[in-house]
Amino acid sequence: MFEKLSNLHQKCFPNKPWSADDFRDLKKSGCEIIMSENGFIVYRIAVDEAEIITIGVNPEMRRNGIASAMIGIIEKTLKNQGVKKIFLEVSSTNTPAQKLYENCGFKTIGLRPKYYDGVDAILMEKDI
Ligand SMILES: CC(C)(COP(=O)(O)OP(=O)(O)OC[C@H]1O[C@@H](n2cnc3c(N)ncnc32)[C@H](O)[C@@H]1OP(=O)(O)O)[C@@H](O)C(=O)NCCC(=O)NCCS
Repeated sequence: MFEKLSNLHQKCFPNKPWSADDFRDLKKSGCEIIMSENGFIVYRIAVDEAEIITIGVNPEMRRNGIASAMIGIIEKTLKNQGVKKIFLEVSSTNTPAQKLYENCGFKTIGLRPKYYDGVDAILMEKDI
């Protein structure tokens, strides 16, 4: 599973690929990971809040609703676990991801200036 995740991550983030060991460490640290044939989502729960750590879809399979479906699945699971809010950070230059999150009902709540190698991070949240 971790090798497959790493291969898919490399396709999604060619400039910052995560290794299989990176994913193993995330899992050990308490993150939840959901992977399908063409996508993955990593998130973590802290009491009644959750954070989406990363999400990616195979470039050949984008705009088919895969990311939205994964977010929908974790939302249901988190709600059943008593989670009230989901947070995430997204680069201000990553328009596809911003649009995805807006489309899924996330609202911008702040900015972390120069968070990613000089690029601002937008903070978003959704009440569930
Ligand atoms: C962001 C990403 C996960 C979206 O995955 P996806 O499966 O293509 O997303 P969906 O098909 O569920 O898209 C849902 C909606 O998001 C918006 N959206 C998604 N990609 C978009 C794009 N390239 N441009 C504009 N809007 C986009 C649209 O509103 C879309 O609905 P529509 O197709 O009906 O118009 C994918 O582009 C990806 O893996 N990118 C690289 C990794 C990344 O940047 N991850 C996010 C890090 S925070």
